[in-house]
Amino acid sequence: MFEIIPGKKEIGAQIICDLKKIKKNHIKKIKYSLQKYGMIYFRNQSLSSRNYFKFAKKLGVPADYPRLKGLNSKFTKITVVERKSKDKGPSFGEQFHTDSIYTKKPPRFTMLLSKLVPRKGQANTEFSSQYLAYENLPYSLKKKLKNLKAIYSSEGPISITTKERAKEKGKQKNELISRHKIIKKINRKLSIFCSPGHFIGFNNLNKKEEIKLKKFLFKHQIKKKFQYSLEWEKNQLAIWDNRSMLHQATPFKGDRIMHRITIY
Ligand SMILES: [Fe+2]
Repeated sequence: MFEIIPGKKEIGAQIICDLKKIKKNHIKKIKYSLQKYGMIYFRNQSLSSRNYFKFAKKLGVPADYPRLKGLNSKFTKITVVERKSKDKGPSFGEQFHTDSIYTKKPPRFTMLLSKLVPRKGQANTEFSSQYLAYENLPYSLKKKLKNLKAIYSSEGPISITTKERAKEKGKQKNELISRHKIIKKINRKLSIFCSPGHFIGFNNLNKKEEIKLKKFLFKHQIKKKFQYSLEWEKNQLAIWDNRSMLHQATPFKGDRIMHRITIY
């Protein structure tokens, strides 16, 4: 059994299969679906950490996450994203962003495997296609953004929650800063590559212009028509193309545990 069910407007897709039994040609289809739909998810996958990591390695090279410690000494590249009902403040990743954009080479894919989730529909992850966002930019903006770079920081607007987690069980690290072109060719297709959650400024742009452009761009990137909202249930695995899809956690109350792997 291997079936791909695309979401509306071909943003996101569900794949029905048993990840413990997939073959080589399925991996090809999974990679192709990631390019085409940006985000794919698999329901009912009760994977052990061993099987989860084994599958991740078929998609690429698992990355070290610079801000959090691993699950245990055996699976250092699986990190735990956890929220308890008693936790106050925003959840981890509660603003549209690209994972680890503050590094020189942000990971291609991010994977989340749900171990414990609140009621279905209560803690969705939202995605926004940056291929569509680029396509829908006015021509003048496509031209203006073409050679512009933005600066990102690990201490950017989204970092409040990361800092809290790092205090609890993370690695203490210095601020990481990167510069990236805002328009990028990803899988041979132009995309906006800009993470509002980590943005700290444009390169070579005066303050007045920066404020105006930032306001327009951030609003444009996350228009509802580019979005897919993923509902979670236990033992669900989601994978997304971290460079062409922005993502964010929606605010929720309750207990949630996700096992996360990022991939180069
Ligand atoms: Fe994230």
